[in-house]
Amino acid sequence: MVRTAERTEFDVVVIGGGPGGYATALYGASAGLDVAVVERDKVGGTCLHRGCIPAKEFLETASIVRTVSGAKEFGVQAGQPVVDFAVSQGRKQKVVEQLYKGLSGLMAGRGITTFIGTGTLLPGRRVRVVHDEGTIELTARDVVLATGSAPRTIPGFDVDGRLVLTSDEVLSLSTLPGSVAVIGGGAIGCEFASMFADLGTQVTVLEALPTLLPGVDPDLVGVVARSFRKRGITVHTGIKVSGHTPNGGGTTVHFGDGQSVTVDAVVVSVGRRPLTDGLLEEGTGVTVGRGFVTVDEYMRTSAEHVWAVGDVVDTPQLAHVGFAEGIVVVKSILGEPAIPVDYSRVPWCIYCQPEVAFAGLTEPQAKEAGLDVVVKKDPFGGNSRARIVGDTEGLVKVVAERNADGSAGRILGVHMVGPWVTEQLGQGYLAVNWEATPDEVGQFIQPHPTLSEAFGETVLALTGRGLHVG
Ligand code: NAI
Repeated sequence: MVRTAERTEFDVVVIGGGPGGYATALYGASAGLDVAVVERDKVGGTCLHRGCIPAKEFLETASIVRTVSGAKEFGVQAGQPVVDFAVSQGRKQKVVEQLYKGLSGLMAGRGITTFIGTGTLLPGRRVRVVHDEGTIELTARDVVLATGSAPRTIPGFDVDGRLVLTSDEVLSLSTLPGSVAVIGGGAIGCEFASMFADLGTQVTVLEALPTLLPGVDPDLVGVVARSFRKRGITVHTGIKVSGHTPNGGGTTVHFGDGQSVTVDAVVVSVGRRPLTDGLLEEGTGVTVGRGFVTVDEYMRTSAEHVWAVGDVVDTPQLAHVGFAEGIVVVKSILGEPAIPVDYSRVPWCIYCQPEVAFAGLTEPQAKEAGLDVVVKKDPFGGNSRARIVGDTEGLVKVVAERNADGSAGRILGVHMVGPWVTEQLGQGYLAVNWEATPDEVGQFIQPHPTLSEAFGETVLALTGRGLHVG
């Protein structure tokens, strides 16, 4: 990490060292470009320090609690688990620190120069870096904007880190609240609701739209909603939250038609806003729309040689989408043919219990697009490995285009909910993006007994003949 530099001229300067930014830097450096990254906090960004990694680490603690609670069924007497959240917090931090050290070492090893400071794009592909001890000005042939996003808040819910929390604060809690209201039942809301419930916190989810996880295939949402209900999570959908009244220790959240819930803390998870404050000086030519930096399919902004990737552009706010966008940018900078990211078919993984993973069109989306579809579902209840691990909640659903003769053609969407589906989506993702047909995919063998057989079985059944799935 440097604050001052002998060299201030680079092939590429990336502003922001989160997944979008560091992937651009790593891929660019491995292609021989001389790259600098400007990061005001720590490389790794939201994903590593305040997002995906810490959240999944806590969800793993929740999974251990479930496993230990269910140990008796396997003849293992472990007693009722007791959670020491401070220890879990410490372990999470250790995982984050190890990954941070690894990433910093990787970047340095690739010859990437990291400036710790706040970057602002100036006209003429110059970047001003303001740091603790002064200012440096860098110049680059190409500049990549990758400043990411921050949690959105809602009026009446001022984040104070005690009564009202966003994901930033939840992930640094050292004790668990006895009860929480989670406002927003999207990806973050469902992951936190699931985690808190498994760790013993009483959870109420308040979602404005008619279902949890809006946009996810309804069959998957149904499984998650049922599991939440069974685990004592209260879910209110289609409601408007109007405010909250602190009551000394906790607060009462008001919603719907005069309804309320009194809780120790409120978690606001209503989406994330792009971070462009102070990023662009007058005259750069970069256009911003609804807060997002405007880009074309090759991630080009409206200014020559200025690109943008990750949460600061209006594409799915997923670390791996940021990685893919960084690769598109580097190839484009090098003048190589680049394939734009197909946002309609990126992999989505939500790590609540049961996990959710999908790629491609949902059944309703396919029908709305006017496509005639054939659909098959395989519940994990019939899968031997799911029975063995004792986690049979969930299903695999494959949506294929109907051929003129009624048979199943191109696979349009693969949707999974259940045990370890985030680790199983790979095959489904490939099938969708390869525009494969059930006949082609059904030809391949799945190892037995595995959870991933459920995907193979579903696809085989779509050929018109199945083994276990009819
Ligand atoms: P989100 O957009 O996924 O969900 C926000 C939810 O809040 C929506 O269901 C929305 O209808 C609801 N909402 C909005 N305003 C509301 C209000 N006033 N009252 C009640 N409900 C309200 O955003 P989220 O969950 O905050 O995640 C932010 C971003 O991070 C998303 O793009 C998400 O995809 C991404 N992310 C992805 C994860 C994953 O893939 N595992 C995990 C965490 C985040």
